[in-house]
Amino acid sequence: MKVVLVTGGAGFIGSNFIRYYLNKNQECVVINLDKLTYSGNLSNLDEVVSDNRYVFVKGDILDKDLVLRILGGDYSPNGQKVNRIVHFAAESHVDRSIKDSSPFVQTNIVGTQILLDALRESWNKEDSDMRFLHVSTDEVYGSLGETGYFTEDTPINPNSPYSASKASSDLLVRAYYETFKMPLLITRCSNNYGAYQFPEKLIPLVINNIVKQENLPVYGKGINVRDWLYVMDHCEAIDVVLENGKLGDVYNIGGNNEWKNIDIVNLLCDLVDDALGREKNSKRLIKFVQDRLGHDMRYAIDASKIKNELGWSPKYVFEDGIRETVAWYLENKAWLENVTSGAYTDYYAKQYGDGV
Ligand code: NAD
Ligand code: DAU
Repeated sequence: MKVVLVTGGAGFIGSNFIRYYLNKNQECVVINLDKLTYSGNLSNLDEVVSDNRYVFVKGDILDKDLVLRILGGDYSPNGQKVNRIVHFAAESHVDRSIKDSSPFVQTNIVGTQILLDALRESWNKEDSDMRFLHVSTDEVYGSLGETGYFTEDTPINPNSPYSASKASSDLLVRAYYETFKMPLLITRCSNNYGAYQFPEKLIPLVINNIVKQENLPVYGKGINVRDWLYVMDHCEAIDVVLENGKLGDVYNIGGNNEWKNIDIVNLLCDLVDDALGREKNSKRLIKFVQDRLGHDMRYAIDASKIKNELGWSPKYVFEDGIRETVAWYLENKAWLENVTSGAYTDYYAKQYGDGV
């Protein structure tokens, strides 16, 4: 039976992954270790909270004793030892890393090192079918010009404190594989969109602001390009690599779906206005603002390795995924209110002021 430790499972991708995993597997245990920072929200998991295969542990990946106890089975319903780890927990927002990189260094680098050391201590090479998947990002590769794609062999060249912290953890995973031959895997994915994404990221921020008829901040000229992938496609790809990936390997995951930011924002204006039956005039809210420092120009993933070796490619058509996403945010105003008010907003304002 699979006993999966998911770190950061109360965040955007982690919570989607937990739902995906429990739906797909009848017999399994999922243990969610999450510190509940501003972007971790237990209401992301309302659907699974009473599922007896699901366990929530509030805690920090920096707490090695806690991680060791989880791995050893102390939190499993029948004391089962963990045999899968999917490591999402991270500080994930580039703009925050530009304002203060210290939590990024702590969680993304030191936190990953502690997880790896806890696994190294508890892992029994002989009798374990353990597999640990580190969720990395295409941002570790740096930035592309107008042409070309990131392959798994593209040199690591991170430009923001966020991507530098992710690149560091990615390299630590690689080094632990080379040194200790631990059962480790790495995925590097492009930009995700979908339900439950904290509304500091471009797509939910813009949807939320269109609904409220507030300005839509577009950095620079809006010509930076991102490759967008539906979060459920990412969850499936992670599962495929977790079970079938070659230990020690890196797998790129992408949507083959490049958009300029301004085009995405224009599209969202039309989709939200349409869905709300409003006159199509929200584009007037677009405001070109100061560019992000060190703003990467273009990301584009070559995902042929995962397709050729493991048979995965995205299932969702962007037009459908983005419509579903808009519909979800419009139907879940209470969720938006919850994550952008109270404790979350206080934390946010204290750390970063109120100018997203
Ligand atoms: P998120 O910010 O929505 O969620 C992060 C989660 O980690 C939160 O629940 C938070 O409470 C938890 N967390 C933070 N610090 C912790 C700590 N010290 N101990 C335990 N839990 C902690 O992030 P996301 O967008 O869901 O991203 C998840 C992972 O996927 C990250 O590693 C990110 O780098 C990677 N990734 C994200 C994208 C994307 O487009 N969002 C793309 C590629 C890779
Ligand atoms: O590529 C994968 C990465 O995608 C992940 O590793 C990160 O965790 C995730 O946050 C995301 O990073 P980006 O910086 O690309 O995502 P974000 O949504 O912050 O920004 C997308 C683009 O939109 C980027 O070019 C900056 C721009 N932008 C963003 C915001 C928040 C704006 O123009 N205005 C905004 O208000």
